[in-house]
Amino acid sequence: MVLWSLQMESRATTRVLIVDDEETQRTALAAMAASWGFLTDTAQDGQEAVEKLSAFSPNVLLTDLMMPRMDGKALMKHLTANGITIPTLVLTAFGNLETALETIHELGAYWFLEKPIQPRELRLLLERVAAQSKLVERAERAERALSYQGVLGELTGASKPMQQVFALLRQVAPTKVAVLVTGESGTGKELTARAIHTLSPRAGGPFVAINCAALPETLIESELFGHEKGAFTGALERRAGCFEMAHGGTLLLDEIGDMPLATQAKLLRVLEDSRVRRLGGRGEVQVDVRVVAATNKPLEDSIRKGTFREDLFYRLNVLPVPLPALRERRDDIPLLCSALINDMNRKHDCKATDISAAALSLLSQHNWPGNVRELRNVIERAVILAGEGTIQVTHLPPSFQTPEAKAAAVAQENAGLPAVHLPVGTTIDQAERSLIEATLLHTRNNKTRAAEILGISLKTLFNKLKSYGASDAEDQHPG
Ligand SMILES: Nc1ncnc2c1ncn2[C@@H]1O[C@H](COP(=O)(O)OP(=O)(O)OP(=O)(O)O)[C@@H](O)[C@H]1O
Ligand SMILES: [Mg+2]
Repeated sequence: MVLWSLQMESRATTRVLIVDDEETQRTALAAMAASWGFLTDTAQDGQEAVEKLSAFSPNVLLTDLMMPRMDGKALMKHLTANGITIPTLVLTAFGNLETALETIHELGAYWFLEKPIQPRELRLLLERVAAQSKLVERAERAERALSYQGVLGELTGASKPMQQVFALLRQVAPTKVAVLVTGESGTGKELTARAIHTLSPRAGGPFVAINCAALPETLIESELFGHEKGAFTGALERRAGCFEMAHGGTLLLDEIGDMPLATQAKLLRVLEDSRVRRLGGRGEVQVDVRVVAATNKPLEDSIRKGTFREDLFYRLNVLPVPLPALRERRDDIPLLCSALINDMNRKHDCKATDISAAALSLLSQHNWPGNVRELRNVIERAVILAGEGTIQVTHLPPSFQTPEAKAAAVAQENAGLPAVHLPVGTTIDQAERSLIEATLLHTRNNKTRAAEILGISLKTLFNKLKSYGASDAEDQHPG
């Protein structure tokens, strides 16, 4: 029932573009699809289909393979190369199962239909594709809505600089353009590369990351390009490299600034013709990989010093994505804290609920040289120490708890709190007692919180309360 209603909804708004050079076939298919409630348009070959894409914006393509000018395969390749994903049904000659399966596998067609077309089969397939494309559209809409609320993939950030990054990522992800992610350590370069992958049509393919700084020069080429058995001492078996492993997906070249110059030259060649030769190998393997590079070193400096090739820089830096340091987007700290508290509760099976205003204020003043990674570590520690309830200043690392920082944070938090009225004639002891009682009233008897506000240890607070209890008892039972 649910599926049926989804199909009804889908059909009403699904646009099918029928591409076939035979006019009778084309018009017959269009008439059939229209009679089932689909919106249709036709094109006589791939070329015309491409021209109609933006005006008609089809959700489904139904295409013949053999056509003049641009044939079916060329059309699908053109779409993929331009980052356009439209589920495609391919029409094949009867008995040509092999070509049909090849097209599905190689070009990612949705399915095939053998000629002569059986209306029942066509209708079923169209409805299925339509329902699926609606689900994808809904998921994309939901993803977009979320990203406006400060989440994109695993990235959190509602500040202006992060929203600009998100907008850029949403634009580039569907394409195959080379992206260079830059930013200080811990700003989220790897998460950004993953977001690009998951938001792209390659999301179903592999995501492979290689850290160019962590590998000795001798190993990096074998890791990148693979090797044949016996290519070098220790190459006991033939091994595919990262490029081959990332075929159909995304390859992150992390810390690209640390790649040796000789390897840079080989990488450039692979990027230029999408072919990889394994070390010790003769033949070349064609690969389809989207490359994202990341670095925390300004590559312009490395180029000046002669440690990074300028031509490779231009090849990788088609679209730069600079990530802001955390101190440049302090408004994101509360949002990041709550996302990280949730993560850490899950990881350590804790029940921290939130973070006190005083603790948050200390975090907001910090300079964060280690960026979000440093914040993540601070929150991880705090969640474990807090166990449950609110994260307090005392749960932060000692370096955060300088007396001045604590006083400033508490003062900021206390602004606008109820005051205690103390007429002249009040003794120091009475004043202290009134202040303690008023603070406890304010914290609804939360003694940890009260001690924090009062700037005394919990132990001192307990001792004072005990002494009041004792003096009350004395008052009631004199002698
Ligand atoms: N915007 C963000 N939202 C949520 N978590 C983030 C964000 N940015 C970074 N992180 C977290 O910070 C840590 C570091 O992120 P990541 O590894 O992507 O940084 P990086 O820039 O690649 O760092 P490095 O230069 O040290 O390799 C990870 O634990 C990641 O989950
Ligand atoms: Mg990294």
